[in-house]
Parts: sequence; structure tokens; C-alpha cells
Amino acid sequence: MIRILVTGAAGFIGSSLTDMLLKNEDHQIAGVDNFDEYYGKSIKKSNLESALNNPNFTFHELNILDAQSISMNFQDVKPDIVIHLAAKAGVRPSIQDPMDYFDVNVRGTLNVLEAMRSSGTKKMIFASSSSVYGNGKVVPFNEDMNVDNPISPYAASKKAGELLCHTYHHLYDMDIFCLRFFTVYGPRQRPDLAIRKFTKAIIEGTEIPFYGDGTTRRDYTHINDIVHGISNAIDRLKGYEVINLGESQTTSLEELVCILEDVIGIKANKKRFPMQDGDVFQTYADISKAQTILGYQPSTDFKDGIIDFVEWYKRSYCA
Ligand SMILES: NC(=O)c1ccc[n+]([C@@H]2O[C@H](COP(=O)([O-])OP(=O)(O)OC[C@H]3O[C@@H](n4cnc5c(N)ncnc54)[C@H](O)[C@@H]3O)[C@@H](O)[C@H]2O)c1
Repeated sequence: MIRILVTGAAGFIGSSLTDMLLKNEDHQIAGVDNFDEYYGKSIKKSNLESALNNPNFTFHELNILDAQSISMNFQDVKPDIVIHLAAKAGVRPSIQDPMDYFDVNVRGTLNVLEAMRSSGTKKMIFASSSSVYGNGKVVPFNEDMNVDNPISPYAASKKAGELLCHTYHHLYDMDIFCLRFFTVYGPRQRPDLAIRKFTKAIIEGTEIPFYGDGTTRRDYTHINDIVHGISNAIDRLKGYEVINLGESQTTSLEELVCILEDVIGIKANKKRFPMQDGDVFQTYADISKAQTILGYQPSTDFKDGIIDFVEWYKRSYCA
């Protein structure tokens, strides 16, 4: 039996990962989440529904800023491995609320690392982000590139998290992989992210907020590919590595709206705004390191992934 502790277990990626890991009866999963108010508690509770019916899952409503409770929880669970996904996610709100972002994403990560140290846990996967690459001009982004130029507090907080992970790897011989996720989408996607916001607005006939001239590009990565990448990382965790998890294909904002219009069968009503502070022009992952170290092979074609997402959205919200 492998004991896995997932922080942020009620969120989009955390709940999808938990459901996937529970398919293996050798996994005992402890989920930690504080139902942060960034988006609805009811959404997060429903994300957890199927896991809560599984005897190999326990849920612990805890805030990673509460160092003492987190440490006691780790002493209790004694996880073999921690998958640390809990964070304030979202680029633009981090500009309004930098203190909170640094508290949760940096001090919270330090609390988790300290709890690992005191409970003797030696393995961690840390959710980092493509945002650390900032406005890098050379694509695809690879892990050897300099990432000293973040353009949002969120990006800086994720880079800081990576640095802390390296420090604990060095000091306490922990095996830690920092996985840089590239814009993740699919069923349960966060309500603040473009694909979900646009889908809702197109279906409801309201305006979609369209930032910039439509040429910004994103490497959209399907949730199934992300959870497979994380799962492969669990099996191969050794030393300290930073690894991109993307699809290694990019789609412009204009193309994204066209695909959504095509799949939903309704024309979007765009309301144009200038590009926002904190938004990067492009993200594009070089995934050769993930292929070599993790045997990672993303397999979701973007249009198929959008069809899957829109079907889920209609089933969940338009019944
Ligand atoms: N979704 C993406 O496109 C994407 C891209 C790059 C990186 N990431 C990272 O992946 C991770 C998961 O992202 P997500 O999209 O699933 O976000 P999410 O907001 O759906 O999930 C994060 C979870 O963390 C929990 N949380 C927040 N603060 C907490 C605290 N103080 N204590 C305990 N739990 C807390 C939230 O309640 C939430 O359920 C985050 O670390 C995020 O930064 C996500």
C-alpha cells in the first residue's frame, strides 16, 4: 500500500488526480483542502463526491497556512509521498492580492515541506507553472532556460516554491519533482479560466471578454494528460528535477474561440479589451525531458479535448 497525501484535493487538478489514483487499490489517499473562497465551495465539494465513497480515501479540511495542524496531520497520515497542489491559482488576481498569493504559495509550501521533514516523508511532487517562463521570446520553453523574469506575483510565487523545494532536497535528501503545468483544461476546469468562461458565455448568449488582438498563444494541456504525467512521476521520483508538462502544441486565442463556436454551434459575442498586465504572449512546452524521465506522452488532440469539455459542461450545467 502506498500512502499518498494530496494537497488541494478538492480543486480541479487535485480531484481529477485523486479519482485516477484511487483506481489503483494499492493507493491510500489522504486529501487536504481548505475550500479556499477563490471559487465556490459547492463546486469543490462536488469534485470530491466520488472519492468520498471510496474506502481508500480520507478527507481533511485543513489550511496549509496552519503549520501546527498540517504537521499533526502529516504525523498522523505518515504519507510516503506528497503531491502538493494547494495554491492560490490565477495570474491576474495575484496582482490585486500579492500578499495572499505569497502567503499560501510560498509560506504554505514551506509549511508542507516542514511537515514532511518532521514526519519523515521523503518524496514530493510540486505543482509549478508555465508562468515562470514569463515573456520568454524563444519557444518552445525548456527547463534549462533562465526563469528570473516573472511578470506576475503568481509566477514569482511558483518560482519561489521551486527554490524552496530545491533547498529541502539539498538539506534533507528529499526526492522532489517540480512539474510545470501548461494551461490545464478539461472536465472540472476552474471557472476563472478562459475555456470555461467562454463556454458558459457562448451557451448563455452573453459577451466573452476578449483580451488583446487574439494572437496570444497557449499550450493547452488536457487534464487526462496532466494526471498521467503526475502518476508517472510518482513511480519515477528520484533526486530533484524541474519538468514541463504540456501538450507541446499551441492555439491562439482567436483559434480557441473559433473551435468553441464550432463545437458549441453558436457564434461568440466578443467584447474586446486591451491585453492585461501579467498575461504572457505565449506558452509552448518542450516536453522532451518529460518524455525521457517520465515516459510522458500526451495524447489529447485539442479539438477532441474541447468536445469532451463542452459535453461535460452541458451535462453538469445545462441539464
Ligand atoms: N489549472 C492550470 O492551468 C494550472 C497551470 C499551472 C499550474 N497550476 C497549479 O496546479 C495546482 C492546482 O491548480 P487547479 O487549477 O486545480 O486550482 P484549484 O484552485 O482548482 O485547486 C487548488 C486547491 O487548493 C486549495 N487551497 C487553496 N489555498 C489553500 C490553503 N491555504 N490550504 C489548503 N488548501 C488550499 C483550494 O481550495 C483548491 O481546491 C495549483 O498549484 C496551480 O497553481 C494549475
